[in-house]
Amino acid sequence: MAAARHSGRPTGRERERSDAFVFFGATGDLAFKQIFPALAGLICDEGLDVPVIGVARSGDLESLRERARQSLEAHGVTDPAAVRKLTDHLRYVKGSDDEIETFHALRRELGSASHPLHYLAVPPVLFGEVVANLDASGCAAGARIIVEKPFGHDLASAVALNATIRGVFPAPAVFRIDHYLGKEPVQNLLYFRFANSFLEPIWNRDHVSSVQINMPETLDVGDRGAFYDQAGAVRDVVQNHLLQVVSLLAMEVPSGHSPEAIGNEQFKVLDSIRPLGPGDLVRGQYRGYREVEGVAPDSTVETFAALRLHVDAWRWGGVPFYVRTGKCLPVTATEVLVEMRRPPQAVFHELEPADAGYFRFRLTPDMSISLGARAKKPGEAMVGEAVELFASHQSGAERPPYQRLIGDATRGDQSLFAREDSVEAAWRIVDGVLAQAPRPLVYEPGSWGPPEADGVLVRGDHWHVPAARAAPDA
Ligand code: BG6
Repeated sequence: MAAARHSGRPTGRERERSDAFVFFGATGDLAFKQIFPALAGLICDEGLDVPVIGVARSGDLESLRERARQSLEAHGVTDPAAVRKLTDHLRYVKGSDDEIETFHALRRELGSASHPLHYLAVPPVLFGEVVANLDASGCAAGARIIVEKPFGHDLASAVALNATIRGVFPAPAVFRIDHYLGKEPVQNLLYFRFANSFLEPIWNRDHVSSVQINMPETLDVGDRGAFYDQAGAVRDVVQNHLLQVVSLLAMEVPSGHSPEAIGNEQFKVLDSIRPLGPGDLVRGQYRGYREVEGVAPDSTVETFAALRLHVDAWRWGGVPFYVRTGKCLPVTATEVLVEMRRPPQAVFHELEPADAGYFRFRLTPDMSISLGARAKKPGEAMVGEAVELFASHQSGAERPPYQRLIGDATRGDQSLFAREDSVEAAWRIVDGVLAQAPRPLVYEPGSWGPPEADGVLVRGDHWHVPAARAAPDA
């Protein structure tokens, strides 16, 4: 069973802090946007004091330092001491990921380090080669590895990739990063559900009518055309981030808060979701996407996806779980809406049909948890209005997800990383339908995607529109 096979519990040696940080793809987009700022945070806030070795095909140490400075400036890290500390830690290995000499040079640069952490910030097609070369050069010995999502391109490639990595690295040394799991509001979903007893009696098919997760983004694919065109919305954010959120919303109570206990329950949810059928998914592509640099002129990759999931679990029988995401939509936000059933009798005979009550979890760009309900309008008539009670409302002073997750990986802490069985279960949900999906429907930038997205809704449900801002004082 999954529980035994995936014991992620680290043993003595695996708990040692990594003594070098290596990142492949050092001149790439991910390093610029996430890794440099995360490392500066770890060095300055948490005292990480290890060599930071960038591997890339072009440039030299000075150009890498300059890129790090630009990255920190672009991400608001202006403290000169922070910039200096990061650039002082930087080392550089020039070479290609498919040449073993690069890895011999890396081994020399690692010097006495015996527990390096390797971050594969490179396209997934290169993972296998990098892992084989790390092994052949001795760089894998005693090491940990972080791999970026999407983890594989489909179920078969994910299974093959897991086998390749596991042939070299033991399970507790493999960190499949999904930065959504490092987000404070995502962790709060788990906490809020199981730290409050009032939720449990109503968190089921008897009281919940539907669950929906919306993750619209106003941005287009920008300068990520080449990456995005190999992925699309389902592989980019649904198969990983949004299905992880579904698993936290739908899971049974874990036996404790160990990574195994939580991971086992998350896996069971993903394993119980039916593979999507053709009627469960609507894909869209924004007008103009095919003109983006790096995108094929006849691309059939989706930049929008709306889907209905069937969670075949006793608790959720008949409750649709809807997911909608896309680029070039009117708002950037991620919200979960758990809609409750209407009262069984319309006691007040109001002319306007009242909205049902709901729980709203806002996950980005700010965090809130609120309860939507009806309250009486002052006056003689028994007429009400929709009100929203904020149960919790914070805006982020927490550590950024990449800083948190890289820091955890240096300590061998698997708690917030995606497990092999869950990654494969998530692929099983989307794999078949992606393989035979019809061409995506074109939608206008700034719209809510193709109107056909309504086709995945059942029983008169409608899409929820997340607010641009969570609360008046957000
Ligand atoms: C990334 C996707 O994983 O998540 C991007 O590749 C997406 O396309 C991003 O924009 C959203 O994450 P966040 O943290 O900005 O909400």
